[in-house]
Amino acid sequence: EEGISTFVLMDDDVRDMIPIRHLKGHKGTHGKGILVAGSKGMSGASVLAGKGALRSGIGLLQIVAPQGIAKEVDASITEATVWSAPGEDFLNEEAWHVVLKQSEKAKALAAGPGLGENIEFISVLEEILKNISCPIVLDADALNLIALEPGLLSLRNGRGGLLLTPHPGEMARLCQCSVEDIERNRLDIAVAKAVEWEAVVVLKGSVTIIASPDGRAFFNPTGNPGLGAGGTGDVLTGSILAWLAQGVSPLEAACLGVYLHGKAADELAKEFGWSGFTASEVADQIPKVRRALE
Ligand code: APR
Ligand code: MG
Repeated sequence: EEGISTFVLMDDDVRDMIPIRHLKGHKGTHGKGILVAGSKGMSGASVLAGKGALRSGIGLLQIVAPQGIAKEVDASITEATVWSAPGEDFLNEEAWHVVLKQSEKAKALAAGPGLGENIEFISVLEEILKNISCPIVLDADALNLIALEPGLLSLRNGRGGLLLTPHPGEMARLCQCSVEDIERNRLDIAVAKAVEWEAVVVLKGSVTIIASPDGRAFFNPTGNPGLGAGGTGDVLTGSILAWLAQGVSPLEAACLGVYLHGKAADELAKEFGWSGFTASEVADQIPKVRRALE
């Protein structure tokens, strides 16, 4: 489409997006992030997103998880604070109070990995979009739930920041079209929706597109098919949360997160090739590839 400016992300662009650490920096200055994730049988999604955040340098990570899994999430991710919220297997509408309380002083919030498609949670998403003023990342089931009521996205217009990280299936649901429609027209759709929703749209795939509400689009050249394994998307969501918490702007947090996530996988591919490394290992490589860029 005419009017779309496209760019390919390169080391030099991304290097400048890495937040500077000050000698006197502490967990407060490195930022608190809230992660709303997980449900019965999908506690791993919150753990993986948490690892992505911790390995990207978040100052303080607070996970909000349903009562029934809070203990196991807490045991699996030592460095995070885990808040048990209403809902046994899935977070329910009462969980909103916990999210609001924990979001005081938060620099960023992410919701979605492993939440399950519990429709009661739509009202929590509505409250988050209306009331939380820091940048918000929506992924996975948060997107699937929003797709049932797409008008909710306009609640955010102009306030805070909004980032959406759909894979093609989630994007198709959000746009009420088929996955083939998305794949035929990835660039135009990502940009049109970023403009319409006033959101940074991260349309994932072998070449992830980061579309900005100002009409620009960035292609990500990093990553490899080894990332095609469950849980890698959750790691990305946590990583973007951490860059936001450290004060990186929504567009740059998306670019930095996607680029380093792919580089982490490329680092693993040197040893393992294009298969057999895990989402946790991708998270673990993030500091090394960040360091190599600095
Ligand atoms: N080359 C480069 N990157 C790739 C490739 C490839 N060939 N294949 C996948 N990736 C990257 C994507 O760009 C994205 O960053 O791997 C990640 C996969 O993310 P998701 O599709 O969100 O997968 P994931 O979240 O791990 O899947 C687990 O969550 O979103 C739900 O429906 C999803 O149930 C599934 C679950
Ligand atoms: Mg996913």
